[in-house]
Amino acid sequence: MIRLLFCLLFLSPGLGYRITQNEASLYNKDDNVVMLDSESLPSTLSLKPESKLVQFLNSFCGDCQRFAPVFKSLSRDLYQWRRVLRIYAVDCAQERNVEICRQFNIRQTPTLRYFSSELAGKELGLGVDIPSQDPKVIVSTLADLVSKDKFESPGQPNFGFLQPNETLSSLFKHDGQAFVALVYQPKDSQIGRDSILSLLPYDQVAVRVFGDYQLLSHLGIQPSNRTVFMIDRTGKTEGLSGTEGYQASIGKFLESLNYKPVPPLPEPTQTDSSEFLDQQKQAIIAQVLKQPRKIYRADLEQAIDKLLHIELPKALFLQGDNFTALHSFLRVLSQLNPLNKNGKVLLLGLDKALAAFNETSGSEFAETVDAVEKPLAKVFKGKRYVGCVASKPFLRGFTCSLWSLFHYLTVEAGQSANQLPPGTVLSAIHGFVKYFFGCTDCSNHFQEMAKRRRMDLVKTHDEEILWLWAGHNEVNERLSGDATEDPQFPKIQFPSPESCASCRNNASEWQTGEVLRYLKSLYGKDNLSFYGLPTSQGYN
Ligand SMILES: Cc1cc2nc3c(=O)[nH]c(=O)nc-3n(C[C@H](O)[C@H](O)[C@H](O)COP(=O)(O)OP(=O)(O)OC[C@H]3O[C@@H](n4cnc5c(N)ncnc54)[C@H](O)[C@@H]3O)c2cc1C
Ligand SMILES: *[C@@H]1O[C@H](CO)[C@@H](O)[C@H](O)[C@H]1NC(C)=O
Ligand SMILES: *[C@@H]1O[C@H](CO)[C@@H](O)[C@H](O)[C@H]1NC(C)=O
Ligand SMILES: *[C@@H]1O[C@H](CO)[C@@H](O)[C@H](O)[C@H]1NC(C)=O
Ligand SMILES: *[C@@H]1O[C@H](CO)[C@@H](O)[C@H](O)[C@H]1NC(C)=O
Ligand SMILES: *[C@@H]1O[C@H](CO)[C@@H](O)[C@H](O)[C@H]1NC(C)=O
Repeated sequence: MIRLLFCLLFLSPGLGYRITQNEASLYNKDDNVVMLDSESLPSTLSLKPESKLVQFLNSFCGDCQRFAPVFKSLSRDLYQWRRVLRIYAVDCAQERNVEICRQFNIRQTPTLRYFSSELAGKELGLGVDIPSQDPKVIVSTLADLVSKDKFESPGQPNFGFLQPNETLSSLFKHDGQAFVALVYQPKDSQIGRDSILSLLPYDQVAVRVFGDYQLLSHLGIQPSNRTVFMIDRTGKTEGLSGTEGYQASIGKFLESLNYKPVPPLPEPTQTDSSEFLDQQKQAIIAQVLKQPRKIYRADLEQAIDKLLHIELPKALFLQGDNFTALHSFLRVLSQLNPLNKNGKVLLLGLDKALAAFNETSGSEFAETVDAVEKPLAKVFKGKRYVGCVASKPFLRGFTCSLWSLFHYLTVEAGQSANQLPPGTVLSAIHGFVKYFFGCTDCSNHFQEMAKRRRMDLVKTHDEEILWLWAGHNEVNERLSGDATEDPQFPKIQFPSPESCASCRNNASEWQTGEVLRYLKSLYGKDNLSFYGLPTSQGYN
């Protein structure tokens, strides 16, 4: 096992992480969502008396970005429930969170997990999956889950039915509580539960549910046609008809006595996105938009860096097909990568290490990467996107660098010095996308496309290059105008006429021979730009 071999070199958690400065996050406290990481997640989940909802996401994944406004608005609404429910998010695309996302076995993003209040201080488990992105379904699932939990703090509600042994004094649990509202819940109804939840903003009242009028007699309440009873500390009782809805009746009653609900969350302050687009980024964008367009080594380097340190080690356990996929992908990378000398040594070393096994785990893989990389001088020198720079937070970056790397690999595979049979690169990409790509939506689309476009029929290196080009253009078309489109880098049918006039004929039809020539020259190793990295001499 690799674990045994490299345990001495294993970096303890925290040492290897590189925390990016001014790291942007999809959510913040203004949305009633607190971002957590490897360190804060376990302690937060195990200490707080409330139940928790945690969204695990990859900030680069389009689906997570499209879900963000929905989740924000949902979370703001659920601010009402904060006495029982707290909301968190973890960005699995950050290197320091790889371990926690692996431990929680996050296989797709976004993933919503619910953690019961009863687990506070106990073994957490993996939480309960809420497999929906529909806010209505999420809220009703949460209502169900929350109402089955036990809450122990005095200010927290009791979802259980009123019991025969309960007395006036036992119904008043904390000093701020002025009333108990007893609400009638007929069989097969959730009206009591829903009233408890909707009245959570009034901490002056504890809502309790009863199903049997007999139970009220020892509290001095006679059976009547009333469905809601307000009791104060002295035992004085007032019946409400409840016909306009329990929440409205009780709300009105409280407002008439000048009791106010906790105010809603203030509107979030608009964040200034000009801060994101600093001078350095503007300079990079200006460079990237120049004709002729270039492919940047810095992006290919970033793609491989993030693959090795974040995307691949996220898997909990690998065996059989997914292990083979990992090995095939690394083999292709080790043979065709554009990295410096040490980078090549690193990838060859990983390929060799994997060749000795038929299974591994994400953590073991991470240890192997660290062990092979440690004795080498700096492999990854850029640490920033260039051709994949974005003008707004969360766009482009990693997914853009992956496409660039994939195209580069298909072009490089055809060079005579390389011995890979045609189709090897596409099938390695397919395996990566199927088992490892943290963008679930992208992965599903790509797998479907590979079948439909008969990736398996690719017979030559040229066909391989063109297959990926056409597939990428299909994705571009689908995403054109999408919320994840960067206005500075619109999704076009690539290449643009400005970049390659001869790629289309007068009728605007593709001239694939010309496209092929253009792609080979654009992605050709000798034409990669060093912008953002040491020059070709200094690179090795
Ligand atoms: C395999 C894969 C599947 C994806 N599927 C989805 C999905 O289903 N839904 C979703 O929301 N996002 C998906 N994405 C992400 C999405 O495609 C983009 O990567 C992301 O929106 C960033 O776009 P971008 O503008 O940086 O350009 P990208 O599309 O990332 O392209 C990067 C660069 O490649 C070059 N390029 C563009 N088109 C071509 C082409 N046809 N041939 C050769 N080079 C080209 C350009 O220089 C471009 O700047 C996927 C990403 C990958 C890697
Ligand atoms: C009522 O009885 C149950 C057990 O039957 C007990 O757990 C609970 O504490 C009692 N409540 C009061 C207020 O005595
Ligand atoms: C409920 O009972 C009261 C008298 O106790 C009566 O005035 C009222 O009309 C009744 N309401 C309904 C809806 O039956
Ligand atoms: C890999 O495959 C094995 C065996 O089928 C399975 O147990 C494991 O969960 C898979 N891992 C991933 C990350 O898909
Ligand atoms: C992996 O290799 C071991 C021996 O090294 C063998 O016993 C085992 O069956 C292999 N597992 C798979 C899934 O091939
Ligand atoms: C590099 O690009 C130029 C033109 O942009 C082209 O003529 C040349 O063939 C390319 N080199 C390679 C190795 O593809």
